[in-house]
Amino acid sequence: MFVKLCDKSDLPVGELKAFKVKGLEVLAVNLDDRIFCLAGRCTHAGAPLAEGVLEGEVLTCPWHYSQFNVANGLVLRGPAEKPLTTYRIEEKDDSLFIDL
Ligand code: FES
Repeated sequence: MFVKLCDKSDLPVGELKAFKVKGLEVLAVNLDDRIFCLAGRCTHAGAPLAEGVLEGEVLTCPWHYSQFNVANGLVLRGPAEKPLTTYRIEEKDDSLFIDL
């Protein structure tokens, strides 16, 4: 089921942003016009990942510096062990839709 996440203009290139969709916290990333959407909280201890640091595809958690690949959610460096859930995104007209 696709649900509107935001207008495309709400997520400029290079941005990472938190959204709440139907009670779910997600993180959306615009990497050179490739849009990725992942769980909004770190799988280690629940840090808000929108406050992390993004360098290329690598997202560093703000609390204990686990690193994840935003393209597939995989853990690149612990202490986190579980990958981030990823969500499919579709672009239609000027809007982004997330597949819940
Ligand atoms: S909460 Fe993210 S590494 Fe601990």
